[in-house]
Amino acid sequence: MKRTSWQEFQALDLLEKRRLFQPKGRPFHALIAQQFDRDFLNRLCEVTSRTRRIAKTRGGRLFLQDLLRDRRAMLYFAQPSTRTFLSFYAACQILGLGAAEVRDTSTSSELKGESPEDSVRTFSSYFDLIIMRHPVGGFAERIAWMLSNTERAVPVINAGSGKDQHPTQALLDIYTLQRSFEDRGGIEGKHIAFVGDLARGRTVRSLSWLLMLYPGVSQTFVAPDALQIGPDVVDALQAAGVSHTLTTDFDRAVREADAIYMTRIQDEWDAAREDPKVDTAMFHFTARHLKVLSPHSIVLHPLPRRTEIALDVDDDPRAMYWRQVRNGMWVRVALMLCIFEKESEIDRYYADLTR
Ligand code: NCD
Repeated sequence: MKRTSWQEFQALDLLEKRRLFQPKGRPFHALIAQQFDRDFLNRLCEVTSRTRRIAKTRGGRLFLQDLLRDRRAMLYFAQPSTRTFLSFYAACQILGLGAAEVRDTSTSSELKGESPEDSVRTFSSYFDLIIMRHPVGGFAERIAWMLSNTERAVPVINAGSGKDQHPTQALLDIYTLQRSFEDRGGIEGKHIAFVGDLARGRTVRSLSWLLMLYPGVSQTFVAPDALQIGPDVVDALQAAGVSHTLTTDFDRAVREADAIYMTRIQDEWDAAREDPKVDTAMFHFTARHLKVLSPHSIVLHPLPRRTEIALDVDDDPRAMYWRQVRNGMWVRVALMLCIFEKESEIDRYYADLTR
């Protein structure tokens, strides 16, 4: 990326952005779900599974710990996080990357009035990778653009921005879906139902985009009208010719879908908090739903949950959300390996292992 103004950068179409975010032969940014194509998703899933296999032995774990030992990562999380932060932190440890963190901006110079842009520019002076979560939509893209005009254009991973994007969650969701449907022809042709707060949930928005890359996938959005998915996603589904339905019929979705993707109410976004008139209890997944869910279907959730999935659902083998948590760490390991172009080392070690 060379000295483009923010206006010029924003006006670029997706293909041009993809070229800028993922320049060949250089560390790339992971900013928005739309930058990834099917080849990348397939490769990322392959690298993830191979890395997990390698990590089963002590020798393999030591090999992994050497791969990025010469790099340092900065975790800048200006919003609450448990899984995303810790899985990135653990992923850094698996690869030997030294990691530092700012999680509470009241302990940084932002309290003295420094802009987040200047904070990140400072991080880029010390670290080789910035993993960031921020409440402002599109902020990770803005940071990548800002760094592109400096001497230290280090890669940026978007670990959640505003209500708009959570690309690494979508990557781990894809990996979980692919593994779950491995014996049933993969993700192609499956029916995925998203449930809950689809208006403000960034995980759903990013995953819905990625699923458009899998032919024959149909998408159902189950929510009260006030929390339904936004027109931008609906327009994109329409333009891509993807079969999709917006509905309040939760029971039907549970009966018919191959995967039910539950989400919590995202009431932290609005000062008015949860609208008391919106009753979401009818969209809660309980033991009763397990009886009508097909034996091959699965239940996903990016977590954290509140009451939208009853605790007694956890023991059912179709409940995949704790697997998603574990998968998230390995997918993030694989993503960092791809960003720093270390996949071929994984391939070589894996080939030796399985020879
Ligand atoms: C999600 C997020 O932050 O958007 N959490 C996560 O990263 N797994 C979902 C949520 O907060 O509801």
